[in-house]
Amino acid sequence: MSEQILVLDEGTTSTRAMLFAADGSLLGSAQAELTQHYPASGRVEHDAREIWHRTLACAREMVEKAGGADRIAAIGITNQRETVVAWDRTTGEPLSRAIVWQDRRSAQMCRELKEAGKESFVQSRTGLLLDPYFSATKMRWLLDYDEAVADAAKRGTLALGTVESWLVFKLTGGAFLSDASNASRTLLMPLGGAGFSEELCDLFGMPHGALAEVTDCAGHFGTSLPELFGAPVRICGMAGDQQAATIGQGCLSLGDTKATYGTGAFILANSGEQVPRSGHRLLGTVLYQLAGKRTYALEGSVFVAGSLVQWLRDALGVLGTAAETETLARSIPDSGGVVIVPALSGLGAPHWQADARGVIAGLSFATGRAEIARAALEAMSYQTHDLAQAFAADGAEWTGLKIDGGMSANDWMAQDIANILGLPVERPDFVETTALGAAMLAAVGAGVHATLEAASEAMRGATRMFAPDMAGDVRERRLAQWRNALGAA
Ligand code: G3P
Repeated sequence: MSEQILVLDEGTTSTRAMLFAADGSLLGSAQAELTQHYPASGRVEHDAREIWHRTLACAREMVEKAGGADRIAAIGITNQRETVVAWDRTTGEPLSRAIVWQDRRSAQMCRELKEAGKESFVQSRTGLLLDPYFSATKMRWLLDYDEAVADAAKRGTLALGTVESWLVFKLTGGAFLSDASNASRTLLMPLGGAGFSEELCDLFGMPHGALAEVTDCAGHFGTSLPELFGAPVRICGMAGDQQAATIGQGCLSLGDTKATYGTGAFILANSGEQVPRSGHRLLGTVLYQLAGKRTYALEGSVFVAGSLVQWLRDALGVLGTAAETETLARSIPDSGGVVIVPALSGLGAPHWQADARGVIAGLSFATGRAEIARAALEAMSYQTHDLAQAFAADGAEWTGLKIDGGMSANDWMAQDIANILGLPVERPDFVETTALGAAMLAAVGAGVHATLEAASEAMRGATRMFAPDMAGDVRERRLAQWRNALGAA
């Protein structure tokens, strides 16, 4: 049996297919950008058809690279979480644009539910808060305002799912599944319960029949239609991208913590088999479910990370390339007092202010591109620092941090995070740990490796350490500037 693993990594700004060997080495990769639709302020949409077609095209490229579908042991899927796709189960066609996790259109609905005193109920069941970030209020919005979605609900043909469910449906020609890590981001599944609950569906007015069946993260979830790749391939791994990155970083023991700097920044700490309870506005989430047994994580979700650099590049034209931030940051001794609060789509953990907006503070005539670029990178350290405090307050103090994601390749930023945290930061040489984690799950599901621990042992590569080396007074001064600017967001 061939032991190559095909991973479909469907992110917010691009979709990728990556081919891994059983030892974790990367054999090939294909990537396609996704069109971002911004129909109104605070709204972010994707075209689910485009997601499917571009993912399929990338996957086909990798199947060819593998030497054919029969050379692939399994498919692993990992995806942007919370994003909602509505489709018709009989036609397999989307009924509306997908509503992306960054979309804030259901803020009012969340406010009303909070005012009705529902947040503590929701938090105690799901580990989540009432914020438009999560799927349920986006689903409710579609049922209320999209005629095609409402009609399909009446006909009983509506499928409301997150992105892994959409991809599995298209790959298999009809299986309707959601793994527990993705399902735990919807507000519809209790952390301690097996599937979507009637009680939570009732609260959000969700037709239970429109939701997927909740499954493990490794196993046999169906086979791809033979015509897609020339022969069927088993789908054996599924997880939300942040959970997959946590696995890919080998955070398999209680307290192990990772931060992924992608479109947003997401920090997850393994909290073992006990359902996590946060008293400091962090989230409880399913890290993975294997053979029906769950391992949980405590999560801090920051909405804007790499997207800030992208915005400086594409909307403001301040940067030529994202990589330029490193050279610019190194070209000056400090940011000259410039601080960016990247609340471009509200503030996530630990603040949770859906209406907060971005701030660039401390501008003077001496401010140039370098100061802005440096302040953008420094904002990542500050946001990470605020989460370190919230985790510590919840009794999950970090002793170090494992970082990954495209943006973490920036050595200056990695060092600055270590400096501001005052903790060692570890970065794998291969920073695409999201895809690696999905490959590990698929390898376990296909029996290539017996356990996640064995997969981690076999598939993870070398890492590099960044030790803190900043004077305490410099750190304190910078954090004070950050706190001032935060007050204005
Ligand atoms: O919760 C949203 C998250 O899954 C998005 O991840 O990698 O697109 O920043 P990413």
